[in-house]
Amino acid sequence: PAAAQAAPHRTAPVTVAHRGASSYAPENTLASIDEAARLGFEWVENDVQRTKDGELVILHDNSLARTTNVKKVFPDRSPWNVSDFTLKEIEKLDAGSWFGAKFEGERVPTLEDYMDEVEENEQSLLMELKSPELYPGIERQTLRELRRTGWLDREHVRHRLIIQSFNADAIKTVHTLRPDIRTGFLGNPSVADLPKYAKYCDQINPVHTAVTPQYVAAVHGLRGPHRRALDLYTWTVDDAATAVKVAGLGVDGIITNKPDVVREAVEGP
Ligand code: G3P
Ligand code: CA
Repeated sequence: PAAAQAAPHRTAPVTVAHRGASSYAPENTLASIDEAARLGFEWVENDVQRTKDGELVILHDNSLARTTNVKKVFPDRSPWNVSDFTLKEIEKLDAGSWFGAKFEGERVPTLEDYMDEVEENEQSLLMELKSPELYPGIERQTLRELRRTGWLDREHVRHRLIIQSFNADAIKTVHTLRPDIRTGFLGNPSVADLPKYAKYCDQINPVHTAVTPQYVAAVHGLRGPHRRALDLYTWTVDDAATAVKVAGLGVDGIITNKPDVVREAVEGP
């Protein structure tokens, strides 16, 4: 892609509630996106994986052990990988109690239930395909599910959905299957390699410690597949000082477990 015109800068960065408002409600549950909505946040982030019987669910770790009571319910199934459990089994699990008694009864959501809740809340989604190398074909399957839930119409695709991954091949596949969808690469490729990513990524999303003025300028200096300057969303920023710092560096999005803290730091009380 040709170098972009010097981009006129850009308003305050978008605040994205990481795994929902996950400092205040159990991550990647419906409660976590409802809490983000209650706090007034439009954008939420999640992680998509697949069960043994091929259903898409929302979970960060490859194992169910940390964020559900799976060890109690299925003590003999170590290491409790999501790919070794059917949806029916996963539906028996409590995904809230580990975080706090008042969240008892929260479930690991299916992608379908999750999308319906995001829609109901009038939110937008930064969706991560988590470890797609473990789930062949998950890109096409996810797009099918998004279409079925009404998320691939023009309005959603243009304004309310971004698909990201640490796995560049998965993002390339998403872009090939649906070039209209905005995509992000999680990581910090070298400046020399950025033009390759700009062929199929609209965003480069590095860890906050990798964000420098030079890196932001290099990302903003390229146009992505939709002919707009690339965006940079950084993660995971949970304190005011870091939020102010990265906002000052010109990032376009801040992904955070504490969206209220970031908003106040960046936009004021
Ligand atoms: O969205 C960025 C962030 O989610 C990447 O790391 O491990 O929380 O999925 P992780
Ligand atoms: Ca994630």
